Amino acid sequence: MCGIVGVLGNHEVAPLLVEALKRLEYRGYDSAGIATVNGGRLDRRRAVGKLVNLSDLLVHDPLAGKSGIGHTRWATHGAATVTNAHPHRAGPVAVVHNGIIENFRDLRAELAEAGFAFETQTDTETVALLTQMHMARGLGPREAAAETLARLTGAFALCFLFEGEDDLLIAARRGSPLAIGHGDGEMFVGSDAIALAPMTDAITYLEEGDWAVVTRAGAEIFDSHGRRVNRATTRIQIDAARIEKAGYKHFMAKEIAEQPVVLADALRHYVQDGRINLPGVDFTGVDRVTLVACGTASYACHVAKYWFEQIAGLPADVDIASEFRYREPVLSPTSWAVFVSQSGETADTLAALRHAGDAVARTLAVVNVPTSSIAREANLALPILAGIEVGVASTKAFTCQLTVLALLALKAAQDRGRIDAAELGRRLDALATLPGLMNHALRLADDIRDLAGELAEAQDILFLGRGPMYPLALEGALKLKEISYIHAEGYASGELKHGPIALIDNRVPVIVMAPRDALFDKTVSNMQEVMARHGKVLLISDARGIEEAGAGCWRTLALPQVADFLAPILYAVPAQLLAYHTAIAKGTDVDQPRNLAKSVTVE
Ligand code: F6R
Repeated sequence: MCGIVGVLGNHEVAPLLVEALKRLEYRGYDSAGIATVNGGRLDRRRAVGKLVNLSDLLVHDPLAGKSGIGHTRWATHGAATVTNAHPHRAGPVAVVHNGIIENFRDLRAELAEAGFAFETQTDTETVALLTQMHMARGLGPREAAAETLARLTGAFALCFLFEGEDDLLIAARRGSPLAIGHGDGEMFVGSDAIALAPMTDAITYLEEGDWAVVTRAGAEIFDSHGRRVNRATTRIQIDAARIEKAGYKHFMAKEIAEQPVVLADALRHYVQDGRINLPGVDFTGVDRVTLVACGTASYACHVAKYWFEQIAGLPADVDIASEFRYREPVLSPTSWAVFVSQSGETADTLAALRHAGDAVARTLAVVNVPTSSIAREANLALPILAGIEVGVASTKAFTCQLTVLALLALKAAQDRGRIDAAELGRRLDALATLPGLMNHALRLADDIRDLAGELAEAQDILFLGRGPMYPLALEGALKLKEISYIHAEGYASGELKHGPIALIDNRVPVIVMAPRDALFDKTVSNMQEVMARHGKVLLISDARGIEEAGAGCWRTLALPQVADFLAPILYAVPAQLLAYHTAIAKGTDVDQPRNLAKSVTVE
């Protein structure tokens, strides 16, 4: 993961680097650092923990210079210490790195043999040392960096800065995204365009294997064969307001609250004049869909499996990307593979997309970042239009992913003749009610805040759901554990008696997500089994469900009635609010939970 930035500016760059790092902190916050060249002299400052620690350090120990690089770290090799923090420096070279240098052990051995000593436990230090070694043998910075790049294997993005070079950055992309920004006599490098948004909106994305020599006059880009190439420069629209907390205490709270609006945006985009508007999507002749993603996005896929099967009668498989990429999935040339990712940069999902390659008729990307690698490499990209999601725990991206996947399932049903126009119209009408229903669901926040104090005391919490609510149980548990650090598990309610019921006693809250649908009675039976063992049940249902089965529950939460197939989208809201308020009650860092990062660009 990690975020990297580089600036060749006309003014002092330290504040610009810190501002860009603030926008990249979602990629990791174990440590941060910057290096500058000032009058030819290379120097750096680094601090452990959040970016604010680096900012504080810079107040007491400023760093001058109009050229610089910066880094925010999610530790892979070596603990989060100042020594292991980037930029890494070896003699005249400083480097920031995102990703993993897979052959760093071999390189370390080679460097050790050549007499180089190591200060850190990181893989990145080998990059700086190799470049220093090449320069010591007489190569200029550009040639030395090229020699180094030729020696590296793995997935990474790098940016180099050199002593004595006030007008030079070298940037390289292999596996991890990298954007070059064009200013007025200034140039920028960043892990994404969001980082560069305050400085420029003119962006060139490096392609896989590219590396670039960047000066204030522009960027010379070379492909993996060393050939000079032209890459298009595009204007990126990034609504700065969407990156602010807008009066909310946390980005997560803001993003939960934004769901009715962004969902309505997505629906307006994909449903026009009562018709599904998915240009380029025609499921005629498609005999299977394979849905692949990680984490929360994989739970969206899991819900979609139920939809493709139930509504479209289309076989659907779900796999987590880290497994799919190393399996030998049997893919048919008449099937489609759908890759779902908020960031569009998740390394495993990107590798899974490449793994599916030409074995399927079509690859589809359901992504939030339309300029991301996954969006660009898939045959067709469908943006979910959630707007920038900053909170590490995914909320609005999940419900927007579900919305787009629901529309894909409906389109499949239509193309395969599984639903008539009237039924399709009814389902689209139901979808149109979702933003309003979500507004109602958000009003549960006070009730949830009330009960969160008690949940925060628990050691273990279980979530139960059946049918398409089963993946929601998994999502509820993931959300809770990632931000409150309480151990939580999601189970298919029918599975409880096959083992997990042994965990139940009066200290284990069990959260049952059960709309009053065709499976309600079955789920309630499983809930009774929990209550018979003194489990503390929180039932989330609609008014009818609660009236029928709420007696004896520890607590109940009533959501509005919703069309059965859309319940997973609506019930995501209380699951998110439960996680949020429990985390607040525990006092954890909601937007930047420990050990996590927003964009997982390492495998
Ligand atoms: C959990 C969460 C993660 C991501 C996962 C995939 O709240 O956000 O589980 O869903 O890391 O990330 P993307 O969707 O960017 O591929």
